[in-house]
Amino acid sequence: MPIRVLGIAGSLRKASYNRALLKAAIELAPPEMTIALFDLAPVPMYDADLDLDGGPAPVLALKQAIRDADALLIATPEYNYGVPGVLKNAIDWASRAAADGARVLNGKPAAIMGATPGLSGTARAQLVLRQSFVFTQTYAVAAPEVLIARCREKFDAEGRLSDEPTRELVSKLLAALLDWTRRLAR
Ligand code: FNR
Repeated sequence: MPIRVLGIAGSLRKASYNRALLKAAIELAPPEMTIALFDLAPVPMYDADLDLDGGPAPVLALKQAIRDADALLIATPEYNYGVPGVLKNAIDWASRAAADGARVLNGKPAAIMGATPGLSGTARAQLVLRQSFVFTQTYAVAAPEVLIARCREKFDAEGRLSDEPTRELVSKLLAALLDWTRRLAR
């Protein structure tokens, strides 16, 4: 059985480099892996008053998609040296118990990557995300780190990841995620 990966971009922008990175991952996925994308746009801001019976419909859909996936693949920008609110908000919702008490992020394998026009390659955002994953007990692959700096030079005019060394790095991360997911399943 191929492993099912849920791809989540930490940007809502149509021309997002990070969503384009997930699309590259779909192309580069090994034959034993399928990657489906989840759109965070409909997920409302976390409000404990809405957090009843697992939360509103878009939150239930997010939790179900995470539950159904064997692993997560996150592509995130860095905002002000941290995780963009849209992604942190989704993690906050997903960390809350489902109606049956299950915590869908608990024990879930994950891989993290990120792209920025800047120089740091989203390193700081990725570390902050790893910190949240300690609390949610989401097991993030440690290496390779996919830190894509100066991303404007690495995607073509159609938004395709065209830089060959970066494509190889993404392929290595996907291979590591496949191995990690199988190891955790044993
Ligand atoms: C940014 N950007 C940015 N880049 C970076 O490398 N480090 C940072 O701390 C920040 N901070 C930041 C804050 C806010 C509010 C915005 C809107 C942007 C720039 C960011 O990397 C750039 O907009 C990316 O293109 C966003 O990713 P997507 O939307 O292309 O996936």
